[in-house]
Amino acid sequence: MEIISSIPELRRRIEAFRAGGAGPGTEPGSLSVGFVPTMGWLHNGHLALVRTARKADDLVVVSIFVNPIQFGPGEDYDRYPRDLERDAGMTSAAEADLLFVPSTAEMYPVGHSTTVEVVGGLTGHLCGASRPGHFRGVTTVVAKLLNIVRPRRAYFGWKDAQQLLVVRRMVRDLNLGVEIVGVPTVREPDGLAMSSRNGYLSGQERLAARAIPRSLERVRFMIQNGERDAATIRREAAGIVAAEPLLAIDYLAVVDGNTLEEIERIRGTVMVALAVHAGKTRLIDNIRMEVGG
Ligand code: PAF
Repeated sequence: MEIISSIPELRRRIEAFRAGGAGPGTEPGSLSVGFVPTMGWLHNGHLALVRTARKADDLVVVSIFVNPIQFGPGEDYDRYPRDLERDAGMTSAAEADLLFVPSTAEMYPVGHSTTVEVVGGLTGHLCGASRPGHFRGVTTVVAKLLNIVRPRRAYFGWKDAQQLLVVRRMVRDLNLGVEIVGVPTVREPDGLAMSSRNGYLSGQERLAARAIPRSLERVRFMIQNGERDAATIRREAAGIVAAEPLLAIDYLAVVDGNTLEEIERIRGTVMVALAVHAGKTRLIDNIRMEVGG
C-alpha cells in the first residue's frame, strides 16, 4: 500500500491504473476503483468498508482527512484522535492499495470559497438540526474527494445513516455517477456501535452507553411483534436511555427511513435514530427496518 498526500499525484496514480486494463483479454479502462473516505482513528467499522470494497473493486483507495469544516464551534475537531502510523497499518492489513492523506492546505488552499449543500428535509432533521452546517461540510469534502478519486463505488456505513442518505442525494442531484454503497453497522460485543469517538468515554460512561443499543433492540423486538404506534416506540426507547443518569438524549426520533420525516405509524422503511451525550461525547446510532402492512 502506498501513502500519497498530493492531489495531482493521487490522480496520476489512479488514472494510470484505470488506463491499464485488468490484463490480457480486458478492455483498457475496465478496472473499477472503490473509495472509502474516513477521518482516521480506524476501527472495525471502517475496515468492513475497506473489505467490502476489496471484494468488489480492482483498486481500493482509502482517504484519511479530519475535515475541519464539518465540525461546529466547540466540537471535537482539535482533540479528534490522529495516528497515521496506526491507521496505515490497519488499512494496509485490510489490503487497500492507496492511502490518501491530504493536508488541510491541500484540500482547502487559501481562497477556497465553494461549498456543496443538500438543502431541505434530509439535512434539516436529526443531526442536521443539532449540528448546523455539519452536512454542508460533509457534502463539500465528499464532493471534492469524489472528484479527485472518481471511483465507480464509494462506501459509507449505515451507522451514519443520515450522512449516507445525504451523500446519495448529492450524488443523484449533481449526476456524479458513482454508486454509494451502504455497509451495515459493526458493533462491539455488547452492542455499542463502533465509532472513533467511543475512545473518549470514561469507564462509567462506556457502561452506561450500552443502554443505546439496548433501547434500539428493545424497540426492534416490539416492532417485530406488531407494535405500530411510533409514539409508543419513541417513549419506550427514550425511557431506556433516560434511565441512565450519565446519558442525555439530544434527539430520539422515529422517522421514515428514506425522507427522515417523523412518522406516526410504523410502516414501510422505518428508522429509529438517536443521538446521545455521554459527558462530553456525542454518540449516534440507529436501526432501520422494512415493515409490511
Ligand atoms: O464519516 C466520516 O468519517 C466523515 O463524515 C467523512 C465521510 C469521511 C467526510 O469527512
